[in-house]
Amino acid sequence: MEKPRKHIFLCASFRANGTPLGICDKSGGTALIQYLQEELDDRGLTDVMLSLTSCLKVCDRGPAMVIYPDNTWYGGINSEDDIDAILDSLEENEINEDYLIS
Ligand code: FES
Repeated sequence: MEKPRKHIFLCASFRANGTPLGICDKSGGTALIQYLQEELDDRGLTDVMLSLTSCLKVCDRGPAMVIYPDNTWYGGINSEDDIDAILDSLEENEINEDYLIS
């Protein structure tokens, strides 16, 4: 496998004991995992990898994700429309200011 051009880490709220207790899980972020992967596939973004991660420590802005190597942090991702908007920006190599955690 080649290294991904971009790597999305979606917060799955895991804590050290493995239990998803954080706000991203409770707010529906992890419910969007399948949709996000399907959108990456449908858009042909085969060079963008999706991984789940433990708490990103921005719970008050969750559900959250970070995209590397850009080091772009997004929050407030609650719906498929939010995913679409972020992926639209990613495809354009732009930062989506509407979700940006700065
Ligand atoms: S649980 Fe997602 S940032 Fe903390």
